[in-house]
Amino acid sequence: MKILVVGGGAREHALCKAVVKGGGELYSVMKNLNPGIARLSTIHKLMDEKNVPEVLAWAQEQGIEMLVVGPEASLEVAIVDVFTKAGIAAASPTKAAARIETDKAFMRDLMLRHDIPGRVEHHTFTDVAEMEAFVRSYPGRLVVKPIGLTGGKGVRIEGEQMANKDEVVAYAREVIEEGIGGSAAVVIEECVEGEEFTLQYFSDGNTIKTLPPVQDHKRAYEGDVGPNTGGMGSYSAADHLLPFLPAQVMEQAKVICQAVIDALRRDGSPYVGTMYGQFMYTPRGPMVIEFNARFGDPEAMNVLPLLKTSYVEVLKAMVEGTLGAMELEFAPKATVCKYIVPKGYGVSSLADVPLGVNEEVVSNSGAIMFYASVNERDGKIFTTSSRSVAFVGCGTTIAEAEAKAEAALSSVTGEYDARHDIGKPATIERKVNHMREVLEGRQND
Ligand code: AMP
Ligand code: GLY
Repeated sequence: MKILVVGGGAREHALCKAVVKGGGELYSVMKNLNPGIARLSTIHKLMDEKNVPEVLAWAQEQGIEMLVVGPEASLEVAIVDVFTKAGIAAASPTKAAARIETDKAFMRDLMLRHDIPGRVEHHTFTDVAEMEAFVRSYPGRLVVKPIGLTGGKGVRIEGEQMANKDEVVAYAREVIEEGIGGSAAVVIEECVEGEEFTLQYFSDGNTIKTLPPVQDHKRAYEGDVGPNTGGMGSYSAADHLLPFLPAQVMEQAKVICQAVIDALRRDGSPYVGTMYGQFMYTPRGPMVIEFNARFGDPEAMNVLPLLKTSYVEVLKAMVEGTLGAMELEFAPKATVCKYIVPKGYGVSSLADVPLGVNEEVVSNSGAIMFYASVNERDGKIFTTSSRSVAFVGCGTTIAEAEAKAEAALSSVTGEYDARHDIGKPATIERKVNHMREVLEGRQND
């Protein structure tokens, strides 16, 4: 089957590997020349991933039979609707279904209307005076979110990026008045505390099949400090839970994920494709931070290498509505993913810097390499403003997986940043202790 994957990051490199491993014939469209994807593809094409008419015309020329979309920006410009109308099946959501990610007010309102558990208190404001009155009267910490896509950089938290209520008001006003995220409105949420986890799942519009949960590290610097990024690295555990996450909380999160799929279907926008639930495990149970209409990056790199079932069969089942009859199998392994990023990433990236990768060192480390947003020129790879290369170690324990990922980092020469602490025993212990403190705080109330 001829399968087109759109996008040129490490997440898409992982999707492409899974397509080829699953027996698909891979075609790819990307805006940068990702050498990993290029090597796997029958034909790759450099193209603006949001130029839907051009991508469709090329896909038709190649006789593409199935579309898989990596980045949310392509979903927002209705790439799936256009392909489906042209008779090409897509294992990704329509523009309407992708609103679960592209419109944060829609997501919160959907959960409220359908009485889905895991809700944080939220309010949407278009009026600055009303917003200010609410913020000043609210006793707890708040989170300010633009409604639309901001490349993961629009969210600010009181007590972190905003020192006090004055700064909350000032930023929320800026979001409304400058239309940050594409609309003259802002979502303000209660801030919940706990440990975050990602639960990704496949859906055919009715049934869901979950993948092992993963924990990402969004902060740029070691110790979880510094600016928010797209994600510096992530880990998953061999038992398909997380060291701070018990089975019953996973079950509660699954119920929420299924309820969202049911709500979208009942509202006339059935969701076909992979969905990403971002949760905070709190004393009130798992609370929804956000939903994304795609795989996570880096989280895709943790779970796709574990998938033993053919990914191509999963894609077909999502499109044909037969996911319920399928049993997915995942290797019982732990994984640790660490990203190499350009110097200054998170603030101001040093782009167009050459990086050397010694593939022999990578292969000796036992880790898997995924190229991200780099460009290949004259046999060398160059950074862009986004993340560069990811290494994933798999092992029977998180510690074993971490050691492999760490050994692979040393294969890269040149100027770069990385978070060496991800997956290390002390980092995991800090998270387990934090979760325990948050839960005990509740008991002492
Ligand atoms: P997002 O861009 O929506 O992933 O948000 C960025 C980060 O902000 C998340 O990963 C969370 O750590 C944090 N965050 C977002 N919403 C909340 C909330 N309601 N309570 C606490 N933290 C939040
Ligand atoms: N890991 C964060 C994201 O993919 O949005």
